Amino acid sequence: MNNNHVPVMLEEVISFVPVNKKINIIDATFGGGGYSKAILNKFQINKLIAIDRDPISRVFFEELNKDFDNLILFNEKFSKIDEVLKKSENSKDKFDVIIFDLGVSSNQIDDPERGFSFQKKGPLDMKMGSSNLNAFEVINSFDEKKLADIIFEFGEEKFSRRIARNIVINRTKKSIENTLELSEIIKKSVPLSNSYKKIHPATKTFQALRIFINDELNELKIALEKSEDLLAKDGLLIIVSFQSLEDRIVKDFFNHKSGKRWRSSRHLPDLADLGPITLKIITKKPLRPKDFEINNNPRSRSAKLRVAQKK
Ligand SMILES: C[S@@+](CC[C@H](N)C(=O)[O-])C[C@H]1O[C@@H](n2cnc3c(N)ncnc32)[C@H](O)[C@@H]1O
Repeated sequence: MNNNHVPVMLEEVISFVPVNKKINIIDATFGGGGYSKAILNKFQINKLIAIDRDPISRVFFEELNKDFDNLILFNEKFSKIDEVLKKSENSKDKFDVIIFDLGVSSNQIDDPERGFSFQKKGPLDMKMGSSNLNAFEVINSFDEKKLADIIFEFGEEKFSRRIARNIVINRTKKSIENTLELSEIIKKSVPLSNSYKKIHPATKTFQALRIFINDELNELKIALEKSEDLLAKDGLLIIVSFQSLEDRIVKDFFNHKSGKRWRSSRHLPDLADLGPITLKIITKKPLRPKDFEINNNPRSRSAKLRVAQKK
């Protein structure tokens, strides 16, 4: 199987990895192994723990494992990062670097059978790995209000109600079977306004469904808390995010843990209890991909890189 994923902001990510010492590292979103491969090639690595909920990542792991033996992959959700380490012989280790490169990989999007793409015909699946639900169940059985809420909350789609209405109208005739049928229904639900000249009208709804089905925002919140505990002193938490809901969670978490009181997101309800200050923010503003990267790899265009260091 070909690895279609081009790692995003690779140069920037690895510029933070410490040199001149042997380090323990967690690549919490192994994907096609692009980051792990570069890091194993360039740095002194004692142990690299790779995590990815998608079993497909094992194919790319096996390739890398032919050249390096100091790595291990767990096909698990990263919200279980602590349990994963307990299961292995690494339960007492602390880590110098923990990396999250959020969202989906090109290997997932480009495979029509996974149902992530609104441009290719495929089943309504959208599961990244183990998940109780798939898009077919959501689209064909959730009530109109619930659908509209999901599309609004996780897609920030202002036409969520119209889209939900049309989904329900269409599915009463026959169930909505594939990505192109759904994408067509969405297209017919939204006015051809300026905002949809730049992005496909189905972009936000597909994003919303994916986030909901894979419980992506809760995954991130849980994993951030747990990761902070796993960092060694001066250890780095490096996070690449691709949409504003994720980035806000990361930003709020960093602000919260570094002692700032304000928050930008309703996803962190408990800032009144500030707790100990455990992180120092390294990237005051998020780093963005350079123009040449965006030109070469348009999927990088929305990336934001944030780094914090354990005190
Ligand atoms: C953008 S890709 C990572 C690409 C990787 N950095 C590379 O260079 O090949 C994101 C990966 O994170 C995985 N992922 C997303 N959410 C996850 C979660 N909650 N737990 C574990 N893996 C997750 C996806 O399955 C996907 O393979």
